Parts: sequence; structure tokens; C-alpha cells
Amino acid sequence: MRRKMVAGNWKMNMTPSQAVKLAGDLMPLVDNEDVDVVFCVPAIDIVPVVNVVKGSNILIGAEDMYYEEKGAYTGEVSPEMLVDAGVKYVIIGHSERREYFKEDDTIINKKIHKALQYNIVPIVCCGESLEQRETGVTLDFIKKQISGAFKHISPEQAIKCVIAYEPIWAIGTGRVATSEQAQEVCKAIRDNIRNIYGPVVAEQIRILYGGSVNAANAAEIFAQDDIDGGLVGGASLKLEFAKIVNYDRM
Ligand code: PGA
Repeated sequence: MRRKMVAGNWKMNMTPSQAVKLAGDLMPLVDNEDVDVVFCVPAIDIVPVVNVVKGSNILIGAEDMYYEEKGAYTGEVSPEMLVDAGVKYVIIGHSERREYFKEDDTIINKKIHKALQYNIVPIVCCGESLEQRETGVTLDFIKKQISGAFKHISPEQAIKCVIAYEPIWAIGTGRVATSEQAQEVCKAIRDNIRNIYGPVVAEQIRILYGGSVNAANAAEIFAQDDIDGGLVGGASLKLEFAKIVNYDRM
């Protein structure tokens, strides 16, 4: 049985003081023993939020990291910095980073290797554009993204990863994929992982859905066979996030 996971992606929201308040407000509300709860927060919020949630079930993730160890990379954050700050997860290859910061599959693959080397669990994002969906190339495109992301990643490493399927047309738009659409792609991702790594990795790797997840649609989406939880943007900034974490208690 795969454990469910609900991860918030705060994106570029919340100053350190706002972050401390939000984390403190959510903390007593997101204690669900059947769900791994992760807050992926802006780099500058990591240290204060780790302090706030200490002793709770909440784990902290970063929204990105660089693939070099240290040195002259002005503005970047290294895996060692994240580990030292108490980070357990890192989002890699979010569609916003692919689009605005021109991250490609090669860069994303390097980041995944580096995160795993430091025992940070990468949440590997993939997802098609509206045009790709409408022209019927979704499954081929996702397969290409997954093969690129997992290049030279061993089965022992892959089993630790989390994959997030986030159709770009559903992110921040309020236009959620139907549970059938989400399940179809998440199953295709699992089949793809099975082809690369075999049945054990395929059955254990966790695949999340992301894109306009909210308190009203979470239970139906998370009930799909190949969906192990969600990566939540907008709704992770509100107390509504607690209802998503407790989707099975509503
Ligand atoms: P959204 O964002 O929930 O606001 O659609 C999801 C994401 O981009 O991770």
C-alpha cells in the first residue's frame, strides 16, 4: 500500500513573517496519520518555517535547488544548504521553472541526481500544455519527460522519488482535470516506470496529481487507483489546505 501524500507548493508567496503565521495556523489542523504532509516553501522561508513546525508531522520541502555543490553561482541554493536547514523534499522541474527559467530535461535530470545524492526526495513534475492535450500527444510527451528526468537514475533511487503530474492548463486556472483524465495519465506514468524499472518500483513510487486541487475535488481525485495524493498550489496558502489533507475524514 502506498502512503498518501499532500504537498503544498507556496510558489512565490509569503514573506518570512507571513510564512511563520500560516505554518503556525495550519499546524494543528493537518495532523492526519495516514498522510505525509509537506509544505514546499520559498527558500527564504525555509529556516523560520522548519522552526515553527518542529515536533509536528509536517515535513518541509524546497521549491527548487541547484545541481552544483557550491561556488560561484550567484543567487542559487545548494542541496547541502537545504539539508542543513532541515529540508526533506524538493520540487524539481515545475512547469513554471521550465517555462520562465528555461529548465529542460537535462537540467532537471541533473537536479534529481543531486537531490538523491543528498537524500532529499525529489518531487519530479511533468505535464502537458493545452495545445498538446488538444492535439492528442499528451501521453507521448509525458513519457518523454519521464524518460528524460529519470535518465541514469537507478531503481533503488527511483523508488524513493515522487512524481507529480500537473497538466499546465489546470495550474492556477480553476480548471481541474477530471478524475478520469488525471487517472489516465498517472496510470500511463506508472506503466512507463514499470517498463523502465519493473513492477516493484512501479507499485511503490508515489504519483501525485496537481492543478487546481481544492477541498471540494481532492477526495475524488485521490481515490483514483494510480493517484497517491496531490501537489497543491493556490489552496495551500489557505486553511482550506487542512481540508485537503483530511480529504478522507470529511
Ligand atoms: P494550483 O497549482 O493548485 O494553484 O493549480 C498547482 C501547482 O502548480 O503545483
